[in-house]
Amino acid sequence: MAMELLAFELLLVVCMVDHGINHSRLRPMTAADLSDILALRNHAEVRRYMLTQHEISAEEHRSWFDRASQNKKVELLVWEMNTRCCGFVQFKETNYRGVADWGFYVAPDAPKGSGRKLGFAALTHAFQKDGLYKICGQALRWNVPSIEFHKFLGFTQEGILRDQHFHNDKYHDMICFGLLKREWACIEYEGVNNDHHR
Ligand SMILES: CC(C)(COP(=O)(O)OP(=O)(O)OC[C@H]1O[C@@H](n2cnc3c(N)ncnc32)[C@H](O)[C@@H]1OP(=O)(O)O)[C@@H](O)C(=O)NCCC(=O)NCCS
Repeated sequence: MAMELLAFELLLVVCMVDHGINHSRLRPMTAADLSDILALRNHAEVRRYMLTQHEISAEEHRSWFDRASQNKKVELLVWEMNTRCCGFVQFKETNYRGVADWGFYVAPDAPKGSGRKLGFAALTHAFQKDGLYKICGQALRWNVPSIEFHKFLGFTQEGILRDQHFHNDKYHDMICFGLLKREWACIEYEGVNNDHHR
């Protein structure tokens, strides 16, 4: 089991060196990460963009983790920079073969450019290691950073779910994005060759 875990980590971990200073990697979330991830998720600058915006209690967070980590269709990943937990990514397989939804957030005090590193590592992982065929994302219409982030990563806007989400006495549109494995292969190739995503 320990060897399997090590092999898994070696396969999974996407290590990048940023100007020889910042080392970042993506790794599976464990129970030891609960408090770090809760602090990130509850940060006002993350929470305001989520579909559920209340402050999450430690119990609620724990029971979410217990459920999600038992679910074979869900993958929970921590993005670390210099061993500090700086982001979170979740992939959840849908009922469509090879298609998963993703969700993510980066620590608001992480340096500019952290999102692109997390996105690059997570999508490379999803397509290469998990063998997924398509990743889908959804963002509230006013979440401009996330909308621009999806476009930046090469996602195509595939639709708008009008007035899909009720919050603060109003309905809000959801913007739907999709990215195919073959599209990512081109972006990844260009990224590596142009140093664009580093
Ligand atoms: C979305 C998020 C991951 C972006 O992280 P980030 O570290 O700011 O991203 P980067 O600095 O690497 O920027 C990458 C690209 O994202 C887009 N972007 C990021 N922040 C943006 C902003 N405030 N306004 C517009 N576009 C933005 C840009 O296209 C940017 O490329 P550029 O720098 O060449 O313009 C981060 O803002 C976040 O965690 N938001 C809160 C959680 C969230 O909304 N999650 C998604 C729910 S759908």
